[in-house]
Amino acid sequence: MTNSIKVDLGLDSYKINMIDSFAGSISNIASATESQCMLISQENIYKLYKNKFDLLSRLPNVSIYLIDDGEQTKSFETITQITNKMASEHFDRSSIVFAVGGGVVGDIAGFAASIYMRGVDYIQYPSTLLAMIDSSIGGKTGINLRSGKNLVGRIYQPKAVEIDINFLSTLPSRQINAALAEAVKYGFIYDKQLFELIASSIDDILKSRSIKILEKIIIQCCEIKSDVVSEDVNEHELRMILNFGHTVGHAIEGYYDYKKLLHGEAIFYGMKCALYLSNKYGNLSNDEYNESLDLLSKFDLPSVRIKDYDKFMNYIKSDKKIRASNVKFILLDEIGKSQINDNISFEQIKESLKVL
Ligand SMILES: NC(=O)c1ccc[n+]([C@@H]2O[C@H](COP(=O)([O-])OP(=O)(O)OC[C@H]3O[C@@H](n4cnc5c(N)ncnc54)[C@H](O)[C@@H]3O)[C@@H](O)[C@H]2O)c1
Repeated sequence: MTNSIKVDLGLDSYKINMIDSFAGSISNIASATESQCMLISQENIYKLYKNKFDLLSRLPNVSIYLIDDGEQTKSFETITQITNKMASEHFDRSSIVFAVGGGVVGDIAGFAASIYMRGVDYIQYPSTLLAMIDSSIGGKTGINLRSGKNLVGRIYQPKAVEIDINFLSTLPSRQINAALAEAVKYGFIYDKQLFELIASSIDDILKSRSIKILEKIIIQCCEIKSDVVSEDVNEHELRMILNFGHTVGHAIEGYYDYKKLLHGEAIFYGMKCALYLSNKYGNLSNDEYNESLDLLSKFDLPSVRIKDYDKFMNYIKSDKKIRASNVKFILLDEIGKSQINDNISFEQIKESLKVL
């Protein structure tokens, strides 16, 4: 196991580094340039790490910009405010944006960096588990429109992803548990060893938040995401397997107006349905199906009941991966091995909802 993982994208390659202190890293990088830099974060992260933010704000070329919490902040309005501030502070092509936060901060900061002067450098400092294992890697940046999430954006790679695991000490448990859905997903689609590591340590993680084990899981997840992104940066075939559990998961999020569940919680349910379909209509054995359900059953999730099937199926039908009357659906052949399947019908998806 290494503390530095390369995301291999030719000229756009970068490293994911496990670091001791985000403030130390930002301070070193900002001190090495004369250009203006912007640290983008959020109020509650600022309050929790005030001493470190205050130290950074004393650097002559670093300004701190705090964006609001939540999905509604992923908007053109926020991007306009950030880029106007960059212009008013004379940011140039060598300026650097530091994204210190979860997926919301990373998506916004990356998108702003990608369009200011047609692109300045940005570095991801993920502060949530989800951002550490998923959203900070791969260069997907963007904002939401009224008609849907992440509809406007760019693939624009960061210069580095710097993971300071100490951030996890202040993250609410619900956020940790929901993000573990993505870690479990990597195990399902790509790596049986990771699945087994999570299955054998899940009780420790859920009860005592073992940082040592979480670090091991984060590194393995980063290696997998980095492999997948390096092979398929533009989300054609391989990167699509990362959508395991997401077709139904996204529809559940939409069904509840994005209010009741965190994204990862919806993905847990989406994976449950995808496992059912993999077992009933694909190659997943009964033994591995039951083993998978055992792991998912350890997570304490808000309950979900789909009563209005038409409303739910409308969300399925508006999925980006839709093709005619079928969906491009990710199924498991076995734990650690997945396939993209074109033959799952709307009826079968509806049938899978019985496992919720
Ligand atoms: N770009 C991608 O590839 C990608 C992938 C998956 C998800 N996403 C996006 O990521 C977003 C979700 O990200 P998220 O789950 O990280 O949520 P988030 O960014 O909304 O953060 C969740 C909450 O935790 C707070 N927080 C962050 N770090 C903290 C810390 N260390 N201690 C205490 N509180 C902290 C945040 O301020 C926020 O209130 C969504 O907008 C989703 O669309 C992007």
